[in-house]
Amino acid sequence: MKNIVVLVSGGGTNLQALIDAEKSGIIKNGRITCVISSKEGVYALERAKNNDIPTRVIPRRNYADSVSYSKAILEALNEEKADLVVLAGFMTILDKCVTSAYAYKIINVHPALIPSFCGEGFYGLKVHEAALAYGVKVSGATIHFVNEEADAGAIILQGTVNVERDDTPEILQRRIMENVEWKLLPQAVSLFCQDRIEIIGGKAYVK
Ligand code: GAR
Repeated sequence: MKNIVVLVSGGGTNLQALIDAEKSGIIKNGRITCVISSKEGVYALERAKNNDIPTRVIPRRNYADSVSYSKAILEALNEEKADLVVLAGFMTILDKCVTSAYAYKIINVHPALIPSFCGEGFYGLKVHEAALAYGVKVSGATIHFVNEEADAGAIILQGTVNVERDDTPEILQRRIMENVEWKLLPQAVSLFCQDRIEIIGGKAYVK
């Protein structure tokens, strides 16, 4: 059974999808053993507590830079004996001290079709604002491994939705969450926990 540590910064709907998937048996061979938040008082922490999952808060604002923050996260991940780290709406870019120690063991959900609308500065609603401003006709979400470059690690799963003429960033965000993120993130986590993702030449393939 693999220890899954979930990192959050906000409302935690993706965390909820993981909790529900664990309960209903969709996630095989893994359990969420800890939730770490970069902010105090976020609703994701309540979701964890409501489900008896231990929580830790490591506030980003208490650290001067990304390197010192990442060291604190690395220490916590090691203490928690994490086999898999899931970034579920985690809004901080982790330094390579974490990404190299947990190479191909950190999974992120990004709310666009990478390589579009991604990288530093593209997070949350900003991603959907950019997609609408560009006028794309489909968007979606990407589940990928995390490496030292923002949103550039090997892609595990992607799913699409249509963009409608009257969409607002909020409406598009919700459609992508409901139809793609909340389904594909638990699926990718389950595949990982069953050792069903292989890396060949830096790319991820489902066995
Ligand atoms: C989700 O849409 C997730 O894909 C996005 O933030 C939202 C978090 O929602 N993540 C990023 O933009 C990371 N670059 P949640 O807290 O309800 O899961």
